Order: sequence, then structure tokens, then C-alpha cells
Amino acid sequence: MTRQNQGLSESVSSQLDTWNRSNVLDLDDFSRSEVETVFEVTDTMQEVLSERTPRIPDLQSQTVVNLFYEPSTRTRTSFERAAKIMSADTINVSGSGSSVEKGESLIDTVRTLESMGTRVIVMRHRQAGAPYLASRHVQTSIINGGDGAHAHPTQALIDLYTIRNKLGAIEGLKVVIVGDILHSRVARSNIWGLVCMGAKVTLCAPLTLLHNDFLLAYKEVEGHLNVEPELDLALEDADVIMTLRLQEERQKQGLLPSIREYIKYYQINSERLRKAKPHALLLHPGPVMEGIEISTDVSRSTNSVIDEQVENGVAIRMALLHLVAGD
Ligand code: CP
Repeated sequence: MTRQNQGLSESVSSQLDTWNRSNVLDLDDFSRSEVETVFEVTDTMQEVLSERTPRIPDLQSQTVVNLFYEPSTRTRTSFERAAKIMSADTINVSGSGSSVEKGESLIDTVRTLESMGTRVIVMRHRQAGAPYLASRHVQTSIINGGDGAHAHPTQALIDLYTIRNKLGAIEGLKVVIVGDILHSRVARSNIWGLVCMGAKVTLCAPLTLLHNDFLLAYKEVEGHLNVEPELDLALEDADVIMTLRLQEERQKQGLLPSIREYIKYYQINSERLRKAKPHALLLHPGPVMEGIEISTDVSRSTNSVIDEQVENGVAIRMALLHLVAGD
């Protein structure tokens, strides 16, 4: 056993007693202790990553497939790097170039991958619910890498972990989520995670990008969730500002008068940043459209933790692979 793996085994063995998930589909049914377990295993994975040649045998002889039906840079590459560091064999399958193009169903695709001995499938799909459907048809672990506008639990865990690392705790923080909430799977998973960890969440968006039905779905978290369409008011005393990409590819006609107007009322720029607490964190899940949702100077300011989010992505994904499939 390597020194790295010995340390890993000692520090995570007790936490695994509280973990009995074989899939990660969303955070809506996560308990606070499960989120904390992910954080603790991630801390251990950060130690592994700080080694000169990070490598642990956790997933030796196991296969991890990245099944991506939509584009991705961060999620796909960080899962691939995480799996490789854990000694897994990794395979990337995309919609184009696979038998999906010949009409093969999602269920047949995941069953085929299972028959080849795949231990974990990380899936991104344009249809909300696709990873849930897949998980009902295979024993292989499914990790949701983003399904339509529904959920992106691994990104939300990265965001929660980044906030906890920078500010020490999440309980009691005011977190403002700004932008295209209507189309954002990142916002949805973050709301569940943030509320679960005791934050107060304010949603700020043009009302056309925040449908009333959205709030009805979150009845259970009333009291922790609040809507303020005026950005200057929403930002007052914020501890964390979470900006979202304006998803032009998912926009239906007529939701916004123009991008220029969106920038005028909803862009986070240096003047707006001053409404928040002086050391407020600025997050963005990426990809960032600099000059639209955030001004360039702000995205590179000391408040920005966008680079840390990307860095934490590998360790969070190692932790999740370990928890669902590790030795
Ligand atoms: N945040 C995120 O999901 O980025 P990618 O689309 O690049 O994976």
C-alpha cells in the first residue's frame, strides 16, 4: 500500500459508514452529513493531488465511462483526470460518432456499457431526468454530469466546497444567485445544497428568466429562499455572489429585450460588487462569457474564486468516484 493510499484509507474509512449511495443524481435528497462526508473525502483527495506524482490504486482494474451527449470542458476532463489518478481505465463516449446516431436508445447504450464491465458512467444529457432513467436499468453507478436544465450535483458540490474552504462555513451566509436561473441546472442543485447547509439564498434575475413555477418546486425550502429582481438590493450584504452563464442556446425567443439591456441591469461589475460585503466571494461555474454576466475586471479581481472552483473540481470528482466505487 502506498503512503498516499494508507492515508486515504485511514481518514475516510469512518466516513464511509454514513454513505450508502451508488449513484449521484442530484443534491435534493442529500443530508448535511453526506455533504460533509464529500468535503472530508475531498480534503483527503487534495492531499493526494498535492503529491509530486499523484496516483492511488482505488479504482484499479475498474472502468469509468464519460458518456456525454452535450459539450463539456470542465466536467468531462476533470472526471477523466480524477479517474486516471485513481488508476481507472477511462473511456469517453459522445453522442456523435456512437451508435446513438443510428438510433440506439439511452437504455441500450448504458446496458451495453455495463455488459463491458463499466463500473461508473458519468453522464451528461440534454434531457432532464436522463441519468435517473439510466440508473433504473443498470447496476453500474451513474453520476449526473448535468441533465438539461435540471441538475448538476457535482458542480454544486464544487461550489459548496469552495465556499466552505474560503469562508470556513456555509451556515448563515447570504448567497445571491444571479442570472439565467430558468435554464440553470447549476442553480437548481446549488439551491438544494446551500439550503441543506444552512445558507440563505436570494435569487436575482429578470422575471422572464425565473418562472413562478420554479419557486413552487422549492416550497419545502421556503424561509431560506427569497427572490429579489433588483440586483442592487439583492447584493446588499451578500457573502457570496454566484453568477450564471446566460444560456443563449436554451433561450426561447423573447425572454430578454436584448443582451445590452441584460448587461445594463444584471452584469456584476466593480460598482455592483461594492454593494456586497468587502470580501464577498464571486463564483461562476463556467464557461464564463466575460463582458456579459461579469465584467472582465471583476472576473479577475481578488473576490473571484472562479479558478479555485476549477481546481477543486478534480478533488471533488475523485471523492465522488471513491464514494460510489472506491476500494
Ligand atoms: N461547469 C460546467 O459544467 O462546465 P462544462 O460545461 O465545461 O463541463
